[in-house]
Amino acid sequence: MVSKIIPVENFDLVLFGATGDLAQRKIFSALFRRFVAQQIPEQARIIGAARSDLTDDDFRDMVKKNLQKFCPNASQNTQKLQQFLQNICYVSVDINGDKGWQTLQKTLRTDMDMVRAFYLSVTPSLFDKISEQLNTHHMITPESRIIVEKPFGHDLQSAKALNLALRQNFTEQQIYRIDHYLGKETVQNLMALRFANALWEPLWNSTHIDHVQITVAEELGVEGRGDYYDKSGAMRDMVQNHLMQLLCLTAMEPPAKFHPDAVRNEKVKVIEALAPIEQTDIVRGQYSADDGETTYFNHVGNDKSITESFIAMKVHIANWRWAGTPFYLRTGKKLRTRCSEIAIMFRDPPHMIFPKMPHQQGNALIIRLQPNERIDLRTMAKEAGLGGMRLTEAVLNMNFADVQETIDVQDAYERLIMDVIRGNQTLFMRDDEVEAAWAWADPIIAEWQENHIKPVAYQAGSAGPDDALMLMHRDGRRWQEIQE
Ligand code: BG6
Repeated sequence: MVSKIIPVENFDLVLFGATGDLAQRKIFSALFRRFVAQQIPEQARIIGAARSDLTDDDFRDMVKKNLQKFCPNASQNTQKLQQFLQNICYVSVDINGDKGWQTLQKTLRTDMDMVRAFYLSVTPSLFDKISEQLNTHHMITPESRIIVEKPFGHDLQSAKALNLALRQNFTEQQIYRIDHYLGKETVQNLMALRFANALWEPLWNSTHIDHVQITVAEELGVEGRGDYYDKSGAMRDMVQNHLMQLLCLTAMEPPAKFHPDAVRNEKVKVIEALAPIEQTDIVRGQYSADDGETTYFNHVGNDKSITESFIAMKVHIANWRWAGTPFYLRTGKKLRTRCSEIAIMFRDPPHMIFPKMPHQQGNALIIRLQPNERIDLRTMAKEAGLGGMRLTEAVLNMNFADVQETIDVQDAYERLIMDVIRGNQTLFMRDDEVEAAWAWADPIIAEWQENHIKPVAYQAGSAGPDDALMLMHRDGRRWQEIQE
């Protein structure tokens, strides 16, 4: 069989923050798995950059240990592991000073046509300085790209400043803003489903869709990340970015071509069409527990905190396609289980000739992101047998398992890093997209702060606050169960 893996071209990747948690846990694992899969050429090099004084060997040992921990299967291939480590080196740099920058510059290969990727796995307050140092030390070539991770600012003003700072040294075409949700397999399948099939498009509008639910439920709390999280909350940490991206891909118009800017233009239009939201359409929650320990307050070390760890909201997209079809968004920490999905809930047939069954939910297309990625179509069917004409709900599983070769599903980072090397920005956020999302989120957050609006408590391990259930019930609808 012909291999589906198309190797990327040779590159030098400089990873700032190389000793940090994200780099060691996610980024090296992603690079290594692509190396084992032979998508990364053997000559490609990874240069770790961080503040600590380490030798190349110290750093390779650190990477090796973490690969064995976080990537146990792949790292059993000792030959590949050895080869991968040989192509890694380390430079100690002082981001604000002079130390290390010249060494880094000399470490890079001089071929001007070779891809150079600068991955900033560091706090956003350093993006500005690092990109300036790269420029000052003449490291930015036409084939260079810079990769940054969220948070992209904490409001519109800071996001604009960040974008401006990056664009002083790189062009927008060289900037790759990661939202790892866009790298998830099912999220991309949503685009294939919508834009490669004639079947759905005629139904994909408010005439046929009653409402859409987007849920990202997490079982974990904010323990260990309290400092960051308490300044952020679910709105900034999840809704402004990950849920917004899911909303955009679900609601966008079909782009004229599958081209990065054509796709991103359509996404921006969705964000810009979001109607102003009433506070009565928002429920904010904070987890609490009878044991007194599993509380949000304990996890952030601040018993006065009014930051939300849960949010549910009803959003309207004010355009022709979606007028009259609300989108309900919901995300939270310390919920019953980990479960992320987009549920497209269709309207009932215009005239029902069969009696409605109790609890009948109607047609739905459920796009499950995690765990157990899959797409389900809930239909009505006749209950088998001779017992008369009784209906039952039948779920069609659209896993495509019968028609597709089983593949080892890639982690979002694997796909995204390969896209950076290939120079494909489709799955990365453009500056105006990030800014539009903040322009929408800012007034909502400002109102909470100005009026000191407190979140309501919800039980850790539950489905969130009762008020969130009411947000649906009052519209005669109900949430999908949060379940694996
Ligand atoms: C991150 C958020 O961006 O996404 C975290 O900062 C959150 O708070 C995480 O837990 C969720 O990602 P995933 O892929 O585990 O759903």
